Amino acid sequence: MTDKYTQLVNQGLGRNLAKKLGLPQPAFLRRYQPGQPLITGPVLVQGSTPGADSLAAELLAWDLDVRRHAVPRERLGAIILVLDDVVTPEDLAGPVLVVAASLRDLGPGGRVITVSRPASDTADPAAAAARQGVDGFLRSLAKELRRGATGNGVLLAPDVAPTSPSSLAAMRFFLSGRSAFVDGQFITVTGTGSDPQDTPDRPLAGRTAVVTGAARGIGAEIARTLHRDGATLVLVDVPAAGDRLAAVANEVRGTALQLDITTPGAGQRIIDHAVQRHGGLDVVIHNAGITRDKLLANMDEAKWNSVININIAAQLRINEALLASDHFRTAPRIVSLASTSGIAGNRGQTNYAASKGGVMGMVRATAPLIAAYGGTINAVAPGFIETDMTARIPVALRELGRRANSLQQGGQPIDVAEAIAFLASGAAGGINGQVLRVCGQNLVGA
Ligand code: NAI
Repeated sequence: MTDKYTQLVNQGLGRNLAKKLGLPQPAFLRRYQPGQPLITGPVLVQGSTPGADSLAAELLAWDLDVRRHAVPRERLGAIILVLDDVVTPEDLAGPVLVVAASLRDLGPGGRVITVSRPASDTADPAAAAARQGVDGFLRSLAKELRRGATGNGVLLAPDVAPTSPSSLAAMRFFLSGRSAFVDGQFITVTGTGSDPQDTPDRPLAGRTAVVTGAARGIGAEIARTLHRDGATLVLVDVPAAGDRLAAVANEVRGTALQLDITTPGAGQRIIDHAVQRHGGLDVVIHNAGITRDKLLANMDEAKWNSVININIAAQLRINEALLASDHFRTAPRIVSLASTSGIAGNRGQTNYAASKGGVMGMVRATAPLIAAYGGTINAVAPGFIETDMTARIPVALRELGRRANSLQQGGQPIDVAEAIAFLASGAAGGINGQVLRVCGQNLVGA
């Protein structure tokens, strides 16, 4: 769906008018295109720890133009702030103020990325204060950035180095246009992760991925993105969407499985299909989902139950079958669709928010179970995404929903798909049990 306002304020007259009237000025976002450079312009790596030195060396090996000191008035592609050794809140001042001096040089679509340790991993009050301070700092800074620039953070568990494969994978994701609509978020890396076969442009080569609800919307875009990244696809949707499902399956040269995911035995049907047609399965994306919005006072049993059944209960049953199957054992990946409604709540969506909150709980508790097979399970929580679903929202509410985030626009289905493709990749193997928001730093919710 086109956002005419964004187009208008990016043209001469509209730009001046929006500026004069103090109206939102959403920028065109820098999105990933295969073959294009990871980021344009020098990357300033700020910080004097051994972690900062080794990270800078890695980024040089990616052929990035790395600076250890800012050159005045040089336009920057990204600023990386390594704060992996802060032990008191006072430690933040030095590096943060150096970044402050360089901020005006950050180019359009630029990136600020912090690298630090989770506050929950220390018992020392001063260290916890410093670490949690990075959280508040980054989230505030992200709200100050303009021209499509974003701010995000990588959090490293105690034994994880800034140059571990999954730390670098998170860094690459945040630097690239794949994270265009991810803003003000942290990714926690709890394991080193490894996958020497991973190539940045085709990270899913040789993997078979199942996408539910793939006949349209975000699901169809996930299918296209995983195909672009090299995966072989099994696409699942209800029989009533069979024609559209077949069209998407043809487009991505995958196979279609007409199946209502709430059917008893759905998990086994998916496994059987993937094994018979493709020799196994490695990645499952739980995307199928519905809304049946009503204020709780007007909620009936059918509306409540259908949302819970499709959005979470079916996923739990399918996961149970997957975890019991010998065909889902090679570094398996599950990614499930949550929603910012499940985090912040949304009027008229008690059933939907309960189901999406449920997805996040399920992901957290399943993480150690799938880790036993070298696998991961994570959730992606989209905010306002331009789809048929959001096109049906009344115009004033829709406009409000679109602008109420730091990037002042709705995300595109591709933005959600990129986050999912990243979490499904081998290099993200050290990221488990997380919820990654793709919401442009929605102004509501944590
Ligand atoms: P959509 O309504 O356009 O597509 C959902 C697909 O799931 C449809 O093709 C539908 O036929 C399929 N489906 C529904 N019930 C099914 C079942 N029982 N078995 C198999 N397939 C079934 O939805 P959209 O907007 O593409 O959303 C996809 C996911 O993203 C959903 O889980 C949704 O809750 C989530 N999401 C969407 C947001 C948005 O702004 N569009 C925001 C936050 C989350």
